[in-house]
Order: sequence, then C-alpha cells, then structure tokens
Amino acid sequence: MFPSRHEGGDVPDHSSVDSTTVLIVGAGPAGLVLGNLLKAAGVDCLILERQSRAYVERRARAGFLAANTVRILEENGLAAGLLRDGRQHDTCLFRSEHAEFELKYSGLGRGEVHTVYPQQDLVRDLIAEFLDRGGELRFETAVAEVNDIGSDRPWIVCRNADGELQRWNGRYVAGCDGRHGVSRQAVPVGAVRQYRRDHGISWLALLAEAPQSMAAVAYAIHDEGFAGHMARSASVTRYYLQCARGEDPQGWSDRRIWDELQLRMQADRYGPLHQGPILERRVVDMASHVMDPIQYGRLFLVGDAASLISPSAAKGANLAVMEAEILAKALIADLRDDDERPLARYSEDCLPRIWRAQEFSHWMINLLHGPAGNDDEAVFLRALQRARLESLRNSRRHQDHFAENYVGI
Ligand code: APR
Repeated sequence: MFPSRHEGGDVPDHSSVDSTTVLIVGAGPAGLVLGNLLKAAGVDCLILERQSRAYVERRARAGFLAANTVRILEENGLAAGLLRDGRQHDTCLFRSEHAEFELKYSGLGRGEVHTVYPQQDLVRDLIAEFLDRGGELRFETAVAEVNDIGSDRPWIVCRNADGELQRWNGRYVAGCDGRHGVSRQAVPVGAVRQYRRDHGISWLALLAEAPQSMAAVAYAIHDEGFAGHMARSASVTRYYLQCARGEDPQGWSDRRIWDELQLRMQADRYGPLHQGPILERRVVDMASHVMDPIQYGRLFLVGDAASLISPSAAKGANLAVMEAEILAKALIADLRDDDERPLARYSEDCLPRIWRAQEFSHWMINLLHGPAGNDDEAVFLRALQRARLESLRNSRRHQDHFAENYVGI
C-alpha cells in the first residue's frame, strides 16, 4: 500500500516511481490543450487518462467552439482539423407559440461566429498532435490519489490497465479530470469555497443520425417543455428535450422522441424535421458548480474539474480551453522565467470569466424554461419569460449583448 494522502513517505519496492514536471490528470479538452502548449514550450509533462484512446476519441459531447477557442487552437498549431472540417455557424432561432425569430449574430455584438466541430474530433486531433510533439500520454491509467499538494513535491498514485499501482512525482499537478474527477478531492476541506446550484431542470440529450433540419441552432419554448436543435456534422444532429428529473432515457422510443420534437418545434407550422435513428439518449441534469479559488498549493484545476456549467449556452469546452491557455502561460512563466506571479493569480484571472459564463448560462436557462402549472407563481414566471423573449426580439441593444455573451467567453 502507498502511504495515505498528505503523509508523503517512501514507496514500497515493488512499485515504480517516476517523475515529470507537470502531472496532468485527464485527457479531455482541458488536459490535452494544456499538454500541447506545455510540450511546445519544452516543459516536461505527462497526461494520465482513465479511459482508453478509442473511448475518448469517440465520446460525443459538445461541438460549438467560440471564436476565442479557435484563436487559441490556431495560434498553437492545433486547428488544422477544425479549419478543414469545421463549419462556421452564425445564426440562432427562437420559436414560441407566439412567434419565431432569427438572430444572425455575425452581424451583432463583436461580430463573432461559432465553429461547429464535434468535440471527439477535436480530442482526436489534440491527442495526435500531443504524441507528435513527443508527449507522453498513458491511457487506461486512473489516478487514484493526489498527494502533498501543499508541498513543493506533490505526487500522485495511479493504477494502470494491468492493475499495477504506480507513483509519479511532479512539481505541479493540473487537475483536468472533469466533473467526477479525483483531483479536487485533494484540496483540504474548508480551503476553498464551493458554489453549487441545481437548476431543477433536466434535458434528454439526443444524437440523431439525420442531417440538420434547419440552418440555425433552434431553441423552441413550449408549454410541454423546451426543445433544442443543434448541428454536429453533415449526418448527425443534436437534439434536446426537456424531461422530468430522474426520467429513464430508455422509456423514450425513437417514435416518441420524434413526435415530441415535432410537437415542441411546431413542425406543422414551420416544416417537418429530418428524422433518423437515435444514436444516443441520456438525461442531463442542469447543475452548476464553481470552486473559489481553483488552485491550492501546487494543484491547479482546469475545465469541468474547476467549474461545471449547465449546457444551456454551450460554454463548458470553451471555458476549459481558455483556462488551459491561461494555466499553460503561467506555468511556462514560472518554469522558464522564474516568474511566479501569473501562477499565483491563476484563479483571479479565470474566475471573473467563469462567473460571466455562469451568469449568461443561467439567463439562458430562465429564457428557455418556464415553470409548469397554473398557480400564480408559475403563470407570473412564464409571463416574465415571454417578456424576456420579446425584449430579445425587439431590442437591438439586447441582441448585441446577447451575441457578445453567446459567442464570447
Ligand atoms: N484519472 C485519470 N483520468 C480521469 C480520472 C482519473 N481519476 N477521472 C476522470 N478522468 C478523465 C476522464 O475520463 C476524461 O477523459 O478526465 C477527462 C476529463 O475530460 P472532460 O470531462 O472532457 O473535461 P474537460 O477537459 O474539463 O472538458 C470540458 O466541457 O463540453 C463540456 O463536459 C464537456 O467535456 C467537456 C467539458
């Protein structure tokens, strides 16, 4: 057995001990962008990923990349795939029982657009590039413990595919292990403040083998609940259906899904949806979580490990890439130029942007979901929801503000 957390000490003979400069836990967008930027600057690092390569390269998640994300990837030689195959996207559409309107956000706010590129394709490109740069990445290796982060020699324990325990020493640990990761558990209780909110809303997240039904991202507001439509690739489209908390996704047959989508998206009024087999159905609960600060000693949290954002505004992967760039620059400043200041203010640099994204995402939740029922409160809140939508439809200033937050980060 290894010494317990925070105790330090020797490792038994049968286990291997190795060291690197930056230990990166997790090969999602956060860990892979960080690893690539460090490697390009000649900083020694190791990425440890619990899942297999095939699994992470096929895991379908987000797909809307903000302009800032594309800039970071381009500036660092990581954008060849998305520039070749990604599609520019600049219009969203709102539908309710009262009206339908489009916002072409390339002509609003800062004039920025999204690039649609499935996240698993980005992950595949980032892995290939990291390995090309000579990076070391261990798949099927789960980090079990992160220790001594308050000292200048933190270390981790991981278990590889053969079940062998291994210890790695490093100078820094980057916790990029997502919403269920272990890294943040290393932070002593009480050392950080945790902000949490369960929005009490769930979505049935669907991937359909069907081309997109309209050129825009569509948000449909309906008495039966929200429905959404988002392009992914030429042959796959993401749909969302608001559903009850705890709903069993298997209770939704393909027929029921398409009937409900057609109803909420008002296909009889605006035209039918392109239908196809449902490839994936899972329930996503709208929840937010922010840690403050997102660092402790030599541990730095990045992406979903630092802050979880509800998917209502597609910000998760974009925040992850933004934080990875800030952390990479700070680590490089420390290790190459002996300047500790950027690392010391990593949380301070990231948190205002995280909160701004959280605020916008929360605003979107309130725009897209009205409470069910006919009691006074529900009726009042639904009237506010309509007023919010009308303001977005009619006010150019509101549209500019929306566009700046929708594409920006
Ligand atoms: N040891 C090693 N790897 C781990 C461990 C562990 N104990 N726990 C989790 N991981 C891995 C996961 O398997 C996953 O590949 O960490 C990775 C975390 O990646 P993501 O969940 O993709 O998180 P992140 O990189 O922060 O990306 C941000 O934004 O669009 C949203 O949730 C979406 O993936 C997206 C995220």
